[in-house]
Amino acid sequence: MTEYEEYFEKIYEFKSSEQCVLPSKVFESSKWLIPEFQNKKQELNKIKGLLGRFQLKAWSKHTAYRDPSGFVMKKLSENVHPELLTQAWCKFYEILGRFPVIPQQSQLDGKFSTLHLCEAPGAFVCALNHYLTLNYPDIQWEWMANTLNPNYEGNELSQMIPDDRFIRYTLKNWQFGLDFSGDITKYYNHQELLKKYAEEKVHLVTADGSVDCMKDPGEQERHVEFLHYCETTTALAVLQTGGTFVLKIFTIFEDTTISLLYLLNCLFEKVAIFKPCTSKSGNSEVYVINTNFKGFHNFANLWTELTSVYSCREQFSLKSMFSLSELPNYFLIEIQECTDFFMNKQMRTILDNIYYYENKIKSEPNKVYIMKTSIAQLFMNVYNLTWIPNDKKIVPHVSVGDNWRVYMAHHSRDYTCVLVQNLVNRKLSTDIMDIQIGKQIEVVQNSKFTHKDNLKKVIVAFGNRKNGSSLYEHVF
Ligand SMILES: C[S@@+](CC[C@H](N)C(=O)[O-])C[C@H]1O[C@@H](n2cnc3c(N)ncnc32)[C@H](O)[C@@H]1O
Repeated sequence: MTEYEEYFEKIYEFKSSEQCVLPSKVFESSKWLIPEFQNKKQELNKIKGLLGRFQLKAWSKHTAYRDPSGFVMKKLSENVHPELLTQAWCKFYEILGRFPVIPQQSQLDGKFSTLHLCEAPGAFVCALNHYLTLNYPDIQWEWMANTLNPNYEGNELSQMIPDDRFIRYTLKNWQFGLDFSGDITKYYNHQELLKKYAEEKVHLVTADGSVDCMKDPGEQERHVEFLHYCETTTALAVLQTGGTFVLKIFTIFEDTTISLLYLLNCLFEKVAIFKPCTSKSGNSEVYVINTNFKGFHNFANLWTELTSVYSCREQFSLKSMFSLSELPNYFLIEIQECTDFFMNKQMRTILDNIYYYENKIKSEPNKVYIMKTSIAQLFMNVYNLTWIPNDKKIVPHVSVGDNWRVYMAHHSRDYTCVLVQNLVNRKLSTDIMDIQIGKQIEVVQNSKFTHKDNLKKVIVAFGNRKNGSSLYEHVF
């Protein structure tokens, strides 16, 4: 393997899946910690803490410049013209190219159905479409997605990706739940989603959820653990036997992630952890690729206990999913190996980045350039990437990658329309808005009808509503 090929091989495969036995008690154990894992967490946080002394903007520029996969998107954009090209597009294409994500049964039947959780803006869906077009051109594919609704005004901007470039053209494929917020951590939204799959389950579930934890980066795992639990239980409820589940996680230090991985090892024939080449080497993000689901019947007797904490987050934070004594030693050893494997690579990257930030080495820019060019070319070769015809795109008639700005809203008794501008070709057009009413909100956290800096005024407008004024009258 060459030096550059190694960037495509960041994989840890669990060997213990065959032996894992599902514990009989779920969410009965009090919380536990494993001291060795807590020490590892401190070690990693100490290295991350070294970054505190650098100016964020300059540091981000430096790490982007040193990112080995930094030329991949440019190469793709020039040669492949993907629909909705983002870093997520590249990461999911790597997952598809590297693992048997499309189950055997789908390949035999020529039918493939997928559900994408926490999916805005929708690049996984577009990457999957591209992959299927090139590799399974005759397969009949149906997809649905869920995400924090970028148009629900109660969702905080910092908690979601407020990007509806693709969603606006594919609305019928998106499930925002009972309250229209799209929040999958709400049990009633989970139940609503399950109703859609009461008749027929899906072959693939992806769950790419993350939560902004800039204010508390050292506890990233704690901040996402409930979301990961919700994503996983939702996936397990809607997945067909033989299906695939792809879940994004971060570190594996806490009882929650260790238990979740044990659950997945019990319920899938193969579990692997993968860090795509296009996932930034300095962060903790990895994907758990679970293939060949053993089927719901294997744990139906534990389902009530497993979902008992979904509607009660406090209870989730008081109990561990499994008791530590029920987790076999061979599994904990694998977790340790896996954690060391990814953590050492991450720490190495951070320390290298610091070194080259503080020391200007003459030959380094040339080395970085050669590495980035080689990796971009390898990406194309390894994943056999070529362009697809426009009519095979999900939204063939427009370029969904373009950004839009809403200028003005016109509100009448019959309809609301907005004047929008395409920020790439500067064209102006109007869009009729379909107004939907979800759970009532107290504070407008985001709005399509005004810039975020105007939101304070909207709150004032909200306060004045009793005198009969329209919500947005005060904004425009
Ligand atoms: C990294 S992005 C997903 C990117 C996506 N896979 C793509 O390919 O474009 C994480 C997403 O998780 C969503 N999310 C975070 N918390 C959520 C929640 N509680 N319910 C639903 N979606 C959530 C965010 O709004 C964001 O769109």
